[in-house]
Amino acid sequence: MGEGVLTASPVADTAALFADAGLQRRGRSLTLGGVALGAIAESVGTPAYVYSADAIRARYRALDEAFADAPHRICFAVKANSNLAVMRVLRDLGAGADIVSAGELQRALAAGFAPEAIVFSGVGKTREELRAAVRASVGHVNVESREELELLATIAGEEETDVSVGIRVNPDVTADTHPYITTGKGGIKFGIPHDQVIDAARFIAARERLSLTSLAMHLGSQLTDARPYREGAERLLGLVAEVRSAGIATLDALDIGGGLGIRYADETPLEPATLAAAIVPLLAPTGLTIYVEPGRYLVGSAGLLLTEVLYRKQSGGKEFVVVDAGMTDLVRPSRYQAYHEIVEVEAAERPRVTVDVVGPICETGDFLALDRALPAVERGERLAILGAGAYGFVMSSNYNTRPLPPEVMVDRGRFWVSRPREHVSALFAHERATDDG
Ligand code: LLP
Repeated sequence: MGEGVLTASPVADTAALFADAGLQRRGRSLTLGGVALGAIAESVGTPAYVYSADAIRARYRALDEAFADAPHRICFAVKANSNLAVMRVLRDLGAGADIVSAGELQRALAAGFAPEAIVFSGVGKTREELRAAVRASVGHVNVESREELELLATIAGEEETDVSVGIRVNPDVTADTHPYITTGKGGIKFGIPHDQVIDAARFIAARERLSLTSLAMHLGSQLTDARPYREGAERLLGLVAEVRSAGIATLDALDIGGGLGIRYADETPLEPATLAAAIVPLLAPTGLTIYVEPGRYLVGSAGLLLTEVLYRKQSGGKEFVVVDAGMTDLVRPSRYQAYHEIVEVEAAERPRVTVDVVGPICETGDFLALDRALPAVERGERLAILGAGAYGFVMSSNYNTRPLPPEVMVDRGRFWVSRPREHVSALFAHERATDDG
């Protein structure tokens, strides 16, 4: 393919990096959980999301094991992947759910989560969403502002229902990640600033229908260092002491949020054991249950996006590989400049070429990889975009009137379609072209 041809192959097979997620090359064919991805693409077409149930299970068990010495609960951050089949795998293992909308509440209930195992966070819950949470008796409603708290008190009174309230604390801890996904610093929209927490706690304690059951934080996403967790945990500890010395004795949980980073390329991920070692000794003496709310850690590596090469072209001295998945299917590269490994579904001996992998959307920012050394793939071949199990399908859109891709679950050596590809007709079925009749 002309310019940019590399003779050496820098990585033998990048798919091997995801071996612990059950991704394997058998002969030339890429398999997930023992199922050939080529066969899945043949059956459901491309683009398509594929998830491995066993990979999710392995992650859940590793985290559960790391916290085994302390009372704890793992609440899956449903925003990362709210597919019902994915949620069901986690529910069956004993996970709770961390939700941020009434829609996610309905999904969590539909997937079979017990209401008391649900934590409802979110900076802008509406009156209707708070009412839905109160009616469902979710485990903790984590409030993020004084005004939200006052509204919740009113709703609890109207509904004549007792509510377990968590305070999402903004601990003012800096985490080293992309600025759009750092959430625990002062001066950003999340949580109640730590110096206003005691006032909020007193307000809750004074309301008959409310009790303060949890202090929570969430520092950011894709964190690879335990330091911010330790700093945040110290902040929470100080607040537990203050709350208790104010005579409030209703706390039962400390929620350290999600954020565990995974390996997309060459990051050293934050291992659950490292995280547990950093915070369990600090928090265990409180006697409170430690809540963890991971999204990406549980499902990120367990999913991939299958796509087909439509065309190749050269322009302005660059090589382009145009594929049938774009920013509407996986927005992370264009939104966060996120790196996702891309590998061939059927491997072949050939040189590597430095290419931009771009989608069909009418935006220059529609890319899946820039200046990437990839095998010189041809039209009609399929690629797998790895590490797409978290914040993949859930952030997809219908821009350009593109139907959302299907979601496929691989389990026990077979695959099944959890969500079929959308039909284009469904995208405008409820629109009217005129206002008559
Ligand atoms: N808990 C709360 C309150 C959160 O806001 C989040 C994520 C989580 C838990 C789960 O975080 P995780 O364990 O997945 O890092 N779309 C971005 C990530 C946004 C994360 C938002 N909050 C991305 O694609 O990287």
